[in-house]
Amino acid sequence: MKIIKLNAIDSTNSYLKQLAKETFLQEETVVLTNRQLSGRGQMGNKWLSREGQSLTFSMFKAFEKLQIEQQFMISMVVSLAIVKALKSLNVPKVTIKWPNDILSANTKIGGILIENVLESSFVKYSIIGIGLNVNETDFPNLPQASSMKLETGKTFQLEEVLDTILKNVFKNLKNISEKDFSEMKQLYENNLFRKERISVFETSEGSQINGIIKGVSDIGELLVETENNPLQKFQLKEVKLIY
Ligand code: BTN
Repeated sequence: MKIIKLNAIDSTNSYLKQLAKETFLQEETVVLTNRQLSGRGQMGNKWLSREGQSLTFSMFKAFEKLQIEQQFMISMVVSLAIVKALKSLNVPKVTIKWPNDILSANTKIGGILIENVLESSFVKYSIIGIGLNVNETDFPNLPQASSMKLETGKTFQLEEVLDTILKNVFKNLKNISEKDFSEMKQLYENNLFRKERISVFETSEGSQINGIIKGVSDIGELLVETENNPLQKFQLKEVKLIY
């Protein structure tokens, strides 16, 4: 594994994506920064990190024979690896809020931004960006955000957390195309926030839907049982889980 440390950069995902385009990268390459000036989140959101308190990094992983239809597998194994790593560091009640927010209890402590580069019918490589709130103690104007420190009362060594996450994620990504999809999906669903609970969603048109989260489809849609529909499928852009 090769780790590139940068003092400051706009976005580790953008940097690594460009690097992968221009050069031949070692199979497991990581870009880590102290200061991310323009961090990107899912759905065009911003991602804010705090120097010295957050972990902000991106991982490069090349694949062989991973079909485009299997790409949700990447999202599942990465989320699961982070859940496992955080549990091993004694962070309580870690779950995955669909599709891949990392929660402790009801608060978000981490986010994942996966950007896949495709070639014909395969995923050639992925840039997997991870932002983790480690030792922050306040989140002005972000009521649903928290940190590992706030949830455990403990201060963490950033290097130790990074090392645990990198090992777990790269381990889970190994031989991914040979992994049993339904087994991974089962594991992912077992760790899904509000599974089998009535939840409230906001649609992209601004209306609200109530329904029970049943799981995910093979391409990563959220399966929700609503009053009129036993299994409605939602894509990421269609709904936002409120609670
Ligand atoms: C989200 O929850 O919306 C995903 C957040 C992902 C943030 C990480 S921080 C490192 C990497 N570089 C970025 O610009 N974004 C990801």
